[in-house]
Amino acid sequence: MSLASAPGKVILFGEHAVVYGRPAIAVPVDQVRATAVVERGSEGQGIQICAPDLGVSHRLGDVLTPDQPAYPLQVTVQNMLRWLGRAAGQDLAVTVSSTVPIASGMGSGAAVATAVIRALAEFFDTPIDLPELSALVFETEIVHHGTPSGIDNSVITYNQPVYFVRGSPVEVLRVRRPILLAIADTGVPSPTRLAVANVRSAWEADRQRYEGWFDRIGAIAAMARRAMETGQVSTLGGLMNQNQELLRLIGVSSPELETLISAALRAGAIGAKLCGAGRGGNMIALVNDESASWVASRLEEAGAVRVMVTRLDQTPRRSAAPTE
Ligand code: MEV
Repeated sequence: MSLASAPGKVILFGEHAVVYGRPAIAVPVDQVRATAVVERGSEGQGIQICAPDLGVSHRLGDVLTPDQPAYPLQVTVQNMLRWLGRAAGQDLAVTVSSTVPIASGMGSGAAVATAVIRALAEFFDTPIDLPELSALVFETEIVHHGTPSGIDNSVITYNQPVYFVRGSPVEVLRVRRPILLAIADTGVPSPTRLAVANVRSAWEADRQRYEGWFDRIGAIAAMARRAMETGQVSTLGGLMNQNQELLRLIGVSSPELETLISAALRAGAIGAKLCGAGRGGNMIALVNDESASWVASRLEEAGAVRVMVTRLDQTPRRSAAPTE
């Protein structure tokens, strides 16, 4: 038996623009996790994939349509078995559970894929390095999202804050001073695939304007990187607000997100923005030790279905490794 888990994530700066080559910053969130267990299955039964949280229980090779939630899981298992050179004749039981909310900007798909791939690697006693792991998770991200930038698989497999530019090696970001974030869920599901496709149509209709906005978002991400590396936490708040203004302009905010963002800022958050694809899902607020619980309770009062507070510091972290 082998068991592995992987964290969720939030994007601090640069979502959407990152799809168009601008830099973005994302951080892992340990409070939510996906876990996978791989065991030897009953003889002749092939590969059983079971994900009770997703309402999934079937065998690899069962015919599914791409819009069914189990489909990416099949792709993950298939790709990994091919990578391991063990595509045929396996009897395995793969069980997945996850507390990462789905369609909410917290990287549920990448977390599940990372946990499954690590558990399979462990089961077959085959080490996999981070770039290879990330590349395999990216294959599943394509099934989920269509044209992902690669930021979700990078931050979740590396399990570190990352400064990410599409097509470039992942840069792990050293955070000089702790950063405290309140993460609040609007409760409105928002599939990333849809939001990314809508932004693409709008970009196609008015490339000049969108490229300008993406440039400004990229510049904000670059400034935020310096602020994080030099410990200028208060600067980050203003940069988050500027990033949110641009996300509004590109059309991915929503009334529910705006309600939570206003509530957080009124309660004393240093900055606030949506995180991930937008249109629903989660927002983040930059808080400090004094304001964290007050901001969290105001977010709940304003309608958040779940609020968590996460601390980011410079402590070296393990990659999304097996948990045994
Ligand atoms: C999704 O977490 C972030 C987006 O920028 C899409 C992507 O980068 O693939 C919206």
